[in-house]
Amino acid sequence: MIVCVCRRVSDSQIRQAAIDGAHSLECLQIDLGVATQCGRCADCASRVLCDARDAGAHQRHIVTIARPSQAQMA
Ligand code: FES
Repeated sequence: MIVCVCRRVSDSQIRQAAIDGAHSLECLQIDLGVATQCGRCADCASRVLCDARDAGAHQRHIVTIARPSQAQMA
């Protein structure tokens, strides 16, 4: 979905920017040019960034514990 029509920036680009470390609208403005023309996309871009950062925070807390199989323990 296109979030910023003026700069043709999609939600997936914003999510990728979040993964790459963007933490504010200002970061998105510098990295992608979001909300640097008419500014109507600023709220939506901020929400997408916030959601992406929340999702990333949840993923960082998921820990996978693998038990060794019987064959590996023998
Ligand atoms: S829609 Fe993003 S600056 Fe206009």
